[in-house]
Amino acid sequence: MSQRPLLLFAIVAAAVLNWYGHVIHAEKPSVIKPGEVWLDDRGVPIQAHGGGILQLGKTYYWFGEDRSQSNDPEKRYVACYSSKDLVHWHYHRQVLAMSNPEGLGKGAILERPKVFYNRTTKTFVMYMHLDSPGYKLARVAIATSKIVDGDYSYVKSFRPLNQESRDIGQFVDDDGSAYLIFESRPTKGFFIAALSADYMDVDRQVSFIPAPLEGGAIVHYHGLYYVLGSHLTGWRPNPNVYATAPSLAGPWTTFRDIAPVEANTYDSQSSMLLKVVGNKATTVVYMGDRWEPKTLWDSRYVWMPVDIGDAKMTLPAPSPWRLDVKSGVAQILVPTAHAASALVGESH
Ligand code: DGJ
Repeated sequence: MSQRPLLLFAIVAAAVLNWYGHVIHAEKPSVIKPGEVWLDDRGVPIQAHGGGILQLGKTYYWFGEDRSQSNDPEKRYVACYSSKDLVHWHYHRQVLAMSNPEGLGKGAILERPKVFYNRTTKTFVMYMHLDSPGYKLARVAIATSKIVDGDYSYVKSFRPLNQESRDIGQFVDDDGSAYLIFESRPTKGFFIAALSADYMDVDRQVSFIPAPLEGGAIVHYHGLYYVLGSHLTGWRPNPNVYATAPSLAGPWTTFRDIAPVEANTYDSQSSMLLKVVGNKATTVVYMGDRWEPKTLWDSRYVWMPVDIGDAKMTLPAPSPWRLDVKSGVAQILVPTAHAASALVGESH
């Protein structure tokens, strides 16, 4: 019997398998799984805790605390990742490896780095919370780079508006103006400060919100500003709360819970509210950290689309969800009881 049909079959089968393999590989499902280990394109858990997102064109850059176990314990690190879909992240590099800032030694604390891009000076300006062991220094530090994923050079540290500053948050308004939100313990509240023209300082106080909160985040949605924060319970989660105002300067409403109190913000703490504007819809993503203080490298990310509008903001229970950044449409795949009610709420 001729071997030809067998050979032909083998060739066709290999081609089909190859094609299938290619299709399966090419079609990466864009699903975010809050609370699960989130791997980068190397298959390594993403190290971008207490992070922030900078959007440049169609690319999102995610900067955050790199707490890798392999890090030199005497240095403090910030890692940079990029993505086109907010789901699949390409690891760039550790853009900051800081040792002995301000002579603080190996106990220095670097938290919540955020990168702004200044279009006038064409400079990337990283803000971060710099502190001494025991959190007594309470300053922001700045490092800059001309390249988004370049080596950021340490510039200085200071107390914005001459106030103690611990957790910081980043906000860029629709008109491009940039703000720092920072927690001030002595005055028991959040300051919102406009950055100076070159972003190398804060220029002026825009608002003081008298509520002792940290993990500050802001979003501007349908003409209203929403500010979000957590209570002061260290690494332990607590019920995060939000307020709204027609202007960044206020007046701010009283704070309300973003999720059922007993859920403790689904064991997470606010870090940023990311607005994804698509051609069909706008989704606001809650970016939170589920901290593991003893194994910080294993802290997880809780990202969920919030149900927002009419001065209300609700965080659905974590559940896998899909995001299409082009259309801006988010879809929760396995709605839980809370998530289902949050989706219903989206229609008004
Ligand atoms: C809460 C802050 O939000 C975190 O960034 C970190 O500073 C912890 N406190 C440390 O306890």
